[in-house]
Amino acid sequence: MDRAHEADWAAALDVAHAAALEWLEGVADRPIAPTRDYRVVLEDLLTDLPTGPSDATTVLHDLVAAAEGGLMAINSPRFHGWVMGGALPAGVAAEWLVAAWDQNSGATITSPVVAAVEQVTATWLMTLLGLPEDSSVGFVTGGTMANLTCLAAARGAVTRAHGWDVDALGIVGGPAITVVGSQHTHATVPKALRLLGLGHDRLVTVAHDDQARIDPAALAKRLGRIKGPIIVTVQAGDVHTGGVDRFDAIADVLDEVRERHPPGGVWLHVDGAIGLWGAASSVLAPQFEGLDRADSWSTDAHKWLSTPYDSGVAIVAHPADHHRAMAVGADYLLVDEHADRDPMDWTPELSRRARAVSLYATLRSLGRAGVVELVERSHRMAQRGARHLAAIEGIEVCNDVTLNQVMIRCWDRQGDAIEHTPAVLAAVQASGITFPTHGDWDGLPVMRLSFSHWATDVDDVDRTVGAIARAHHALRN
Ligand SMILES: Cc1ncc(COP(=O)(O)O)c(C=O)c1O
Repeated sequence: MDRAHEADWAAALDVAHAAALEWLEGVADRPIAPTRDYRVVLEDLLTDLPTGPSDATTVLHDLVAAAEGGLMAINSPRFHGWVMGGALPAGVAAEWLVAAWDQNSGATITSPVVAAVEQVTATWLMTLLGLPEDSSVGFVTGGTMANLTCLAAARGAVTRAHGWDVDALGIVGGPAITVVGSQHTHATVPKALRLLGLGHDRLVTVAHDDQARIDPAALAKRLGRIKGPIIVTVQAGDVHTGGVDRFDAIADVLDEVRERHPPGGVWLHVDGAIGLWGAASSVLAPQFEGLDRADSWSTDAHKWLSTPYDSGVAIVAHPADHHRAMAVGADYLLVDEHADRDPMDWTPELSRRARAVSLYATLRSLGRAGVVELVERSHRMAQRGARHLAAIEGIEVCNDVTLNQVMIRCWDRQGDAIEHTPAVLAAVQASGITFPTHGDWDGLPVMRLSFSHWATDVDDVDRTVGAIARAHHALRN
């Protein structure tokens, strides 16, 4: 390696450092929506592949210039779109190290420190969330892959209970699995079923309440008739309402069903992508009673916990089933005999970045008290926002704000919400002050606000409410 190449590290990282700081320190004051759209940004970026090399600093400078106006200020405390959240300093800085260290975290032998970080982080997660301490954990890209990983473990377990080893033999010729959820089961669950060869139409739905929570009695009735393998998928946090399923009541139903099935033939999965972190708080804990009675849990650290992307977690109460679904082996892959585990045996990927490092750093910087404060604060901010919005004439809050999600509908004086709600939303998004997003609820449009940012404070909430009120009043005829 020549001296010039060595010198590039500092020069390139300096450009990235300066640009990152400028972004992070100014993000709360920026217009939230991008000011230049995809086509315009593309036009700037679209060149032929350079025929020769470019200096790293030039590449970085050009990238920063091209990004101007094309970034969504997702880590603004007044970004309320979808369910996202903004990254905390320890996690962002740790992520820089991850890139610099360039560890392949597939095997313990390729990166002892990353394997150890995974082990420690997994233990912390079990304690924090009150989950069985001998559960196994896979650090995946997000909620989608966490659902896939958990459902892969479930698929193996429930079919093996009926004498069919799906992990070895595949689904063809095996027993049909019944997968039960509700109309509000997140779209990534049927997608996972598709990837697992079960097909997205395999999901059968049972009745739910007005907060998108499964009706345990309807579930009992539906399962009463089923003889083969069963997977039930419920939610810790519905993407619209934030509704948390009644785990205890559902686990009671499944305990009864299990009496008529072979051991292991019935599996309960909790999709906790948005809400599982609420289980850390004693204020929110009553909603999570019975959470530990499930067989698997998925969550996203890059949402409410505020790690950088991409960081999801798959947790399985039955490590043997998890391992059977995900393990990989080949003659050239060395195994460290003294290690507890190899990370690649618990996730769909073999080679991967060391994503658990920023999760570790985030948890370490927050500590238990910090996580509790983070979730309780967002809950309080969501409640404040809902209370103030509900006080505005013509604005209806459509959900019980039990977690961090608020859903509103705006009515004009003629009694229309179908056109008025999206019009208000468009005006609010264009204001640059705040950024809720759209949804559909009970067949009518809604505006959804997710309070998932660690820094959102009272002033932010009041500015968001003010922006919505102004747009609503200006457009209300
Ligand atoms: C309930 C639920 N499950 C799963 C997912 C998918 O998570 P990810 O986008 O991290 O893959 C989401 C995303 O919003 C979600 O809300």
